[in-house]
Amino acid sequence: MDIAGLIRPNILTLEPYHSAREKIQEGVLLDANENPYSQEWQGIGLNRYPDPYQRKLRKAIARYLGVQRDNVVAGVGSDEIFDWIFKVFCQPGKDRIAIAEPTYGMYQVTAKIFGIPCFEFGFDEGFSLSAERFLKRVPSDAKVLFLCSPNNPTGNLLDREQILQIAQKWQKIVVVDEAYIEFADQPSLVSDLNEVPNVILLRTLSKAFGQAGMRLGYAVTSPQIVAYFLKVKAPYNMNVLTMNRGCQVLGQVESHLACVSEIRKERDRVAAQLRGIPQIERVFPSQANFLLFRCPQASLVCQRLLGKNILVRDRSSLRDLENCIRVSIGTSSENDLFLNELQGIVKGML
Ligand SMILES: Cc1ncc(COP(=O)(O)O)c(C=O)c1O
Repeated sequence: MDIAGLIRPNILTLEPYHSAREKIQEGVLLDANENPYSQEWQGIGLNRYPDPYQRKLRKAIARYLGVQRDNVVAGVGSDEIFDWIFKVFCQPGKDRIAIAEPTYGMYQVTAKIFGIPCFEFGFDEGFSLSAERFLKRVPSDAKVLFLCSPNNPTGNLLDREQILQIAQKWQKIVVVDEAYIEFADQPSLVSDLNEVPNVILLRTLSKAFGQAGMRLGYAVTSPQIVAYFLKVKAPYNMNVLTMNRGCQVLGQVESHLACVSEIRKERDRVAAQLRGIPQIERVFPSQANFLLFRCPQASLVCQRLLGKNILVRDRSSLRDLENCIRVSIGTSSENDLFLNELQGIVKGML
């Protein structure tokens, strides 16, 4: 697989910014115009710049996933990694991306920021992905395909075989955003990565790990692609506090993921209760920590819920999602409040 052939020419030849700390990280550090006096915060010295290669953090991520450090690189949330994908692969005026809709809106937004047009295509029945249909229809100037599994906002997993078929036959870049994978019944595609060096998995500590405020996402992919991401990222994108905390969280995976089974149980309970409300037309099966459901006058329902201080997401404007609302799974009492208010609102609307 010719990864280098997919890289923008200016990135191929780019000489990246070099920090003198590439050679040593400890010693008499007089290379970076830092302040030598450390005022520690919570036991952490902040007077030094962080490791641009994120060595400890990448090792902790790699250990969690059972891959090598060279397979991972961390960003300020997955959102930052979307930027690197465009910087490395997508040339304005030449390349396009492909997006299976409906899905997470940031892929489109980032494409617009970079001036890259999108080839949008719909899913098959049940928001499923057909490799055959994609391969038949994808235009020749499409360079990167964005998939999301479990998909936001529909909640379903995409079929692993279909994704792998696309990656093997298409020979361009396939991004699979697995932000919600820890909530799913099936494992990540991590174990398949050796077969498909053109696949980039996106993962995050924002969801199952409960660390959205920390802003730590990461890419898992072939070492060639990681090397290009390291080339284009800001040298000090990950700060010392986030990297320390990230290592701590990933060193205690079991306790940090203990809430996942509770959230999955609540998801199934809320889904069952929603299915019991006669006005709710459809509750879509979910492998994530949210549910998508269809009800009449969805926008008005969202507005009325807002009037009760309950915030949900109206997804009605997305392709194939007319009158659809996405609700995140909260605590048991938050879910009960939501269900009670929703029931009252839809009853009153009949
Ligand atoms: C599919 C998907 N990917 C990525 C993100 C953002 O992740 P992060 O917090 O790591 O930027 C979200 C947030 O809602 C999401 O739904």
